[in-house]
Amino acid sequence: MPTVDNPAGKTLAELGAASPDEVAQLFSEVRALFDNQAAKQLDPATWEALKQVWTGRKSGVLTLITDNWLKPATPELKRAVGQELNKLKAQVESTLEARKRDVESLAEHAASAKDRADLSLPGVLRPVGTHHLIRQVFQEIEDIFFSIGFSVVEGPEIETPYYNFEALNIPEFHPVRDDMDTFYLELPKGAPGPLLLRTHTSPVQIRTMEKRQPPVRVIVPGKVYRRDNPDATHSFMFHQIEGLAVDSDITFCDFTGTIDYFVKQFFGESVKTRFRPSYFPFTEPSVEFDVSCVFCGGSGTAKSGGTCGKCKGSRWIELFGAGMVDPAVYGFVNYDPKKVSGFAFGIGIDRLAMLKYGIDDIQAFFQNDVRFLRQFP
Ligand code: DAH
Repeated sequence: MPTVDNPAGKTLAELGAASPDEVAQLFSEVRALFDNQAAKQLDPATWEALKQVWTGRKSGVLTLITDNWLKPATPELKRAVGQELNKLKAQVESTLEARKRDVESLAEHAASAKDRADLSLPGVLRPVGTHHLIRQVFQEIEDIFFSIGFSVVEGPEIETPYYNFEALNIPEFHPVRDDMDTFYLELPKGAPGPLLLRTHTSPVQIRTMEKRQPPVRVIVPGKVYRRDNPDATHSFMFHQIEGLAVDSDITFCDFTGTIDYFVKQFFGESVKTRFRPSYFPFTEPSVEFDVSCVFCGGSGTAKSGGTCGKCKGSRWIELFGAGMVDPAVYGFVNYDPKKVSGFAFGIGIDRLAMLKYGIDDIQAFFQNDVRFLRQFP
């Protein structure tokens, strides 16, 4: 707000006004000054300042004129000054009042414009998330096993060597530990240990059989960890689904029939399965299941005519390990190996997802690149 540089600070004598005409002239100058200031754009704060400058009790212009012009005026001028001052007062007050209404309605308008939504504007599109492909494949596999009477159990990702190795018939110096050695946890001094990140979901077989009597039909989805260097087929963390079925009369036929059913449900009725002898310390016999190559239809020949690059012309693709539960394992969980039998399997989820969806780098699952993830809505 400009300070008022107006004549109200001086007396009429100092201003050289000696006649009513001269007084009127002075007042019209003051009015012009006021009109000028009141015509500016005002907001609530500048309106208040303007009001103070003109009507402030102690040193407002009206007060100054009363003190400096009216009170000391000569009797001849007093009347003229009084009349002009009243006119000025009325003008100042009515103008201030009118401007106050402008200022208030402007402020109200600004506030309500802020709150008002323009319904014609386009909305904010929030991307909708989906399950990660790995989660989707877990679900597909779980659904297949649910349909034949299995249920889901889970176990800890931090394990003891007992569950991860010993109770699975892998004693301390068994060479198989070399393939599986993993991340051991650094523990505070005196803490019970050692502990490790589980290298497979198989320890949950033991944990389940410790808690339940046969019949047992469970699958165990989860994360597993190995000290592998990352490349297109290896990751230090990946996913498995363990399966375990134990009952009084489970045969090798039940075993291969179940796996064959699962593989056909997952890849389609047209695939074939086969198994080859293999070795795992916790199954006997142990097998490796293969599926007829899902890329060349089991022909070994690519559509383009050459050798199929995926199965390298072998017509088969290795899927996962499995077997009949080794009787030695029952000894760790107080099952009677003479009375029960069963089978187990350990499916690598990432590998199955890669085969089914034609993904050639396991790292793609873990890089969180939405251009990749969006392809599997
Ligand atoms: N635990 C094995 C691994 O991670 C996979 C496996 C093989 C699990 C055979 C099983 C099985 O239950 O019977 O390499």
